[in-house]
Amino acid sequence: MMGEKTFTMIKPDAVNNGYIGAILEKICSGGFRITAMKMTRLTAEKVGEFYAVHKGKPFYNELVQFMSSGHIVAAILEKENAVEDFRKLIGATNPANAEEGTIRKLYAESMGRNAVHGSDSDENARIEGDFFFSALEKY
Ligand code: CMP
Repeated sequence: MMGEKTFTMIKPDAVNNGYIGAILEKICSGGFRITAMKMTRLTAEKVGEFYAVHKGKPFYNELVQFMSSGHIVAAILEKENAVEDFRKLIGATNPANAEEGTIRKLYAESMGRNAVHGSDSDENARIEGDFFFSALEKY
């Protein structure tokens, strides 16, 4: 059965560019329900923990620097088939390849500064949601 939850982060580029409201509007009109949300800032150490799977990749240091450079908005989203449907709504990792109307096509600056994160599996959605929210906040 497809999972009903996914996790997202609005990244520092989109926060600084004033797109929080527009992105949340796209998320809600895309049929997702926000069940937990917070605006916060991550230390480089915390970003390294969150993106541990990318450690050693050529873009890792830039990713850590960028994601710790400003505020982010973290949220848990609910919808049938949430992970897959949300990845469709945000578009390709590189906004140059993202479909028209997707969040990254509309609001991302580049591959590194790509406006939003979306979990890539049900398991990662759970792990990433747990990274930001306590059991009480999530339910
Ligand atoms: P995200 O979906 O948050 O997961 C890892 C992030 O690394 C990705 O979005 C991109 O913003 C960033 N990144 C930068 N360069 C690359 C690259 N060459 N391949 C994949 N991700 C990259």
